[in-house]
Amino acid sequence: METIKLDIKDTLKFISKDALSSYETKAGICMDTLEKGTGLGNDFLGWLHLPSSTTQELLDDIKATAKTLRDNCEIVVVAGIGGSYLGARAVIEALSNSFIWLQEKKTGNPVIVFAGHNIGEDYLSELTTLLKDKKFGIINISKSGTTTETALAFRILKKQCEEQRGKETARKVIVAITDAKKGAARLTADKEGYKSFIIPDNVGGRFSVLTPVGLLPIAVAGIDIEQLISGAKTMETICASNNLSENPAALYAAIRNELYQSGKKIELLVNYQPKLHYFMEWWKQLYGESEGKDHKGIYPSSVDFSTDLHSMGQWIQEGERTIFETVVSIEKPNHELHVPIDEENLDGLNFLANKRIDEVNKMAELGTRLAHVDGGVPNIRISVPTLNEYYLGQLIYFFEKACGISGYMLNVNPFNQPGVEAYKKNMFALLNKPGYEEASKAIQTRINE
Ligand code: PA5
Repeated sequence: METIKLDIKDTLKFISKDALSSYETKAGICMDTLEKGTGLGNDFLGWLHLPSSTTQELLDDIKATAKTLRDNCEIVVVAGIGGSYLGARAVIEALSNSFIWLQEKKTGNPVIVFAGHNIGEDYLSELTTLLKDKKFGIINISKSGTTTETALAFRILKKQCEEQRGKETARKVIVAITDAKKGAARLTADKEGYKSFIIPDNVGGRFSVLTPVGLLPIAVAGIDIEQLISGAKTMETICASNNLSENPAALYAAIRNELYQSGKKIELLVNYQPKLHYFMEWWKQLYGESEGKDHKGIYPSSVDFSTDLHSMGQWIQEGERTIFETVVSIEKPNHELHVPIDEENLDGLNFLANKRIDEVNKMAELGTRLAHVDGGVPNIRISVPTLNEYYLGQLIYFFEKACGISGYMLNVNPFNQPGVEAYKKNMFALLNKPGYEEASKAIQTRINE
């Protein structure tokens, strides 16, 4: 089996080899800190050996639960936000047919829709309309079990499901993924007798895609979770090396930290396959929430190429020189399509006749890389042999491991997210949530000033 590969040659014009080799020791120290659990946030390191410690028993339980949902639902709503939904969405969108919406009957898979990741009244209202008369089920995902966005959506969906399908069937098609003991989601699941899975205490939301949080929705979508774990396990072994040249996660962490030190404050994660759009969203949360603290951290951003070359291309080529790119490039597409010959050649495209669409895409990628490097944008390339469960599993673990190492290189706690609480506190104060009386008074005074 092949592996994903990291190519850093188009960064070497921007950083010195000496600077990079100084990371050899640093990477070793950060790896040891992670492995021994002696660093900041060490009570959240459960993700580090998840691939190799996931039991067949758990996978079988997830697959059996997925089968119940698949057998009994036309639509499954996955309710969750942030780390409790992005990983599942990333994998499902990467590995599903782009037009699955229109093929629900043919594929035999239930349609997966997402909720609980916004507070849009129109979104929720349109969702409840869509679900009317449909056989639908719900996977309610929340580690804390109290996240407002998710809890709100679940309250509405649970009621609709019970009214449409009856309490007994609803009990069969509602599954909870939450804490073992605490939170409203646990309370409800236990009281109603829902099937439930536990989110391990030592795995934070953004590192939880390889727990039931990601695995159950992914399995419901008909995707092979054993292959996903197998790919992640391969990468867990590869990324255990303390040697920078053998460990792609450590090398990626080193390069991006050195680029950051040299003034490249923004990282653009780039894809040339629209199916990877949500993978980039997952990655942005992983890195943004892990590194953006203590007034430090690369700003993680993303673009879909070539689409965004027609909107953001100008800025990237000639704007402020504070960016670098990390391109996730899929070597071999899953389908083959050639450009047809056209006798009249009215569109002038016969120079492409008989070429595969992917050859055109790859030349767009190469041409862009050369142009951007010439324009002062360092380029890291991650090549993925093909888009399937096994390589996606590798990519997920690679980015997670690199994130842990990179956060320690930056000297922050990569496993907490204290800043996320600030908006919640204000929102609860403004909505007069019990327990926020003092904060409510203070915020009203501030607003009235
Ligand atoms: O990474 C994180 O911790 C967050 O993105 C959470 O996953 C997100 O806020 C949802 O939290 P919860 O799962 O408690 O509902």
